[in-house]
Amino acid sequence: MQVFVDTANLDEIRAAMSWGVVDGVTTNPSLIKKEVERLKAAGQQVDMDCHIRNILQTVDAEHPVSLEVTATDAAGMVAQGKALFQKYNQVAQNVVIKIPVNTYAGNSFEGLRAIKSLDDAEIPVNCTLVFTPEQALLAAAAGATYVSPFAGRVDDYIRQQSGIEFSKGDYFPAEGWEAEADEEEDVEEDMLDDNGIVSGVDLVTKIADLFEKHEVDCNIIAASLRNPRQVRQVALAGADIGTIPFAVLKAMMQHAKTKEGMEKFTADIVPEYQALLGGSAPAQPARPTPAQQTQPSAQPKPQPSAHDLINRQRGGG
Ligand code: G3P
Repeated sequence: MQVFVDTANLDEIRAAMSWGVVDGVTTNPSLIKKEVERLKAAGQQVDMDCHIRNILQTVDAEHPVSLEVTATDAAGMVAQGKALFQKYNQVAQNVVIKIPVNTYAGNSFEGLRAIKSLDDAEIPVNCTLVFTPEQALLAAAAGATYVSPFAGRVDDYIRQQSGIEFSKGDYFPAEGWEAEADEEEDVEEDMLDDNGIVSGVDLVTKIADLFEKHEVDCNIIAASLRNPRQVRQVALAGADIGTIPFAVLKAMMQHAKTKEGMEKFTADIVPEYQALLGGSAPAQPARPTPAQQTQPSAQPKPQPSAHDLINRQRGGG
């Protein structure tokens, strides 16, 4: 699975690119708003044209950057998409136009019409706000190069519909959330769902299965990803790309045993070995004083399992 970074923050894009793991960038009006507010709060002038050019140049021609339209009718989206593409694709040949699958303006097919027109004009489209396999199928049929199912928001929706409290980064089990036991119902109906979709990962799985079964030539960008475990699961589900917030990207690198192992390797460097490599051994962490040794050490909290979370939500132990 390719890794895109889901941000309009230039520093985050530069940092992620410097790690050598990023294959593209996605933005949307909310991410642009967040970045504009951050820059203004820091007392900086916002030159949006310059900001977009900087993003495009930072990631270069090999790395697509999605820019979203703001119009909600097909003609408006096509005009904006063409204008954005004409103006910015010449910067680094990497612009993709993001079109909502359904804008709920006028009638339900404005997004599809816009995708078709832009595809006819050979402008690549990332179809966003996809919440069902059916929407993904129609977007691909209209000519989208990418479809973006919003995995995290599917999980939000399922929890909201059932009155389950949660925080944005909370893990939601890919296999779904069991409804309150009802002896009369069969097993399938025992899961909370959104018209048969039991989780965001399930949505990505079903789109991937459907595209594979029917040889649909369209890339799946798993979007609205909230935590590393969900990234792993959409990759296993068959997403071609995961677009990942910067904080989640950083969290993907963390493990307590990696940290502990690194501390041990560093502590074990002998001068004879260091001499082969040049320089001097990194400074050893200060030895704890006897008083500190009696303090309990700060251990990272173990992550709760899905079952723990389910029990906790239900008020169980
Ligand atoms: O790529 C879509 C993403 O930016 C939405 O994420 O976390 O607001 O659902 P989120």
